[in-house]
Amino acid sequence: MDTIYVHGGVPLHGEVRVSGTKNGSLALLASALLVPDETVIENLPDVADIGTMVEILRTLGAKCDFLGPRTLRINASELTSCEAPEELVRRMRASFYVAGPLLARCGMGCVPRPGGCVIGSRPIDYHLTGFRALGAEVVEEHGFVVARAARLYGGQVFLDPRYRSVGATVNIMMAAVLADGTTLIENASRDPDVVQCARFLNACGARITGIGGAAMRVTGVDRLHGARFAAAPDRMEAGTFLMAAAATRGDVSVRGARATDLMQLLDALRQAGCDIEIGRNAVRLRLSGRPRPFDVVTAPFPGFPTDLHPPTVVLQALASGRSIMEETIFEARFNYADELSRMGARIHIKGNTAITTGIPKLSGAPVVATDLRAGAALALAGLAAEGETEINGAEHLDRGYENFVGKLRELGADVVRRAEGGARLNYVYSR
Ligand code: EPU
Repeated sequence: MDTIYVHGGVPLHGEVRVSGTKNGSLALLASALLVPDETVIENLPDVADIGTMVEILRTLGAKCDFLGPRTLRINASELTSCEAPEELVRRMRASFYVAGPLLARCGMGCVPRPGGCVIGSRPIDYHLTGFRALGAEVVEEHGFVVARAARLYGGQVFLDPRYRSVGATVNIMMAAVLADGTTLIENASRDPDVVQCARFLNACGARITGIGGAAMRVTGVDRLHGARFAAAPDRMEAGTFLMAAAATRGDVSVRGARATDLMQLLDALRQAGCDIEIGRNAVRLRLSGRPRPFDVVTAPFPGFPTDLHPPTVVLQALASGRSIMEETIFEARFNYADELSRMGARIHIKGNTAITTGIPKLSGAPVVATDLRAGAALALAGLAAEGETEINGAEHLDRGYENFVGKLRELGADVVRRAEGGARLNYVYSR
């Protein structure tokens, strides 16, 4: 396990540049499997999950070459396997994204069932219902999901309106792109990562309409062609840095942050008393006193993102009163709460709600990151706390935040990372 040491109390100042979207890029990479040609994806973030997806594409026969540190050329003209390796799929749930493209391209996709994870049970039933609606036969054998169809046909899929599943929308859309006829996905996700994936597929010759709306229509085509596409900036990373600025009462410009993708977060931050300036390609946040209390309910896009729930509770823990965080997407997202309590936070969990009574200062403590967003929350808490915070399980952050420690240091944070058994190091992720 790697450890991050944070000495808190330094207000963050300056400018930070956001890397490409992690979740959006995972969908783009899986989509490239649908293209029997060369595609080039630019602005990929240098994070572990992208490395895992590239490995999966290679095991399926796609040729992947980095043309630069963030630009990947994928040639999926010949796929040599329709079975995703268990070891890689276990590392990351998003690897189930290859099921749709394999089914569409090869007539069969064989992908290990991704298990539950620390933020909730995370079933895949909507994905499988969608494949069946397109005419696939789907069975589960020896821990694998096997989907087969000599030909897929357009169908009608109703997703649960409470969740508007991101993953199911992407997987069904990818499967439908090469189907015979038109598929209607009702209650499709409107998430910017899904919108981006649909636009990429259209750039490759797909016929998808209703993008970003409640119902998406996918009219199948015979063949896609190659395209070049740049991943958008990561809005979760942008949101995390904005909250880091607020938690330390700093002044930070987040370059690449798109206000239109972060509306609910910006509203919450304004309620907390933050001064927010929206520029052409950046959002600047300043906060001078303690945050005011504010309430949040997570919801599918355009609602408040569940991935920003844990860092938001750090801000609530420092507020001058009582705040509420209601989690409606992942039932087990509260793993960070006990760790924050070790730092003095006063959080009471009741069902799917965290009721937090703010205190003037958190205090540094040894804590453990259990997942990516919990890790980000603990880092923010450490930045705002008095004394040293030791965050174990720092590798969770590598899954989704590029050079997190380095970027915080550029903003003036007193933070270092140490690999197990080694001396204290500044950390730069490299493949
Ligand atoms: N759901 C089902 N059945 C399904 C699919 C989803 O019941 O077949 C439920 C889930 O259990 C959850 C809700 O629907 O309660 C929404 O899940 P969704 O499918 O939207 O989530 P996902 O596609 O598995 C993506 C992101 C997550 C992010 C969620 C919600 C990727 C790779 N992952 O997951 O990102 O939290 O959408 O916005 O895009 C992260 O980056 O830290 C992360 C967990």
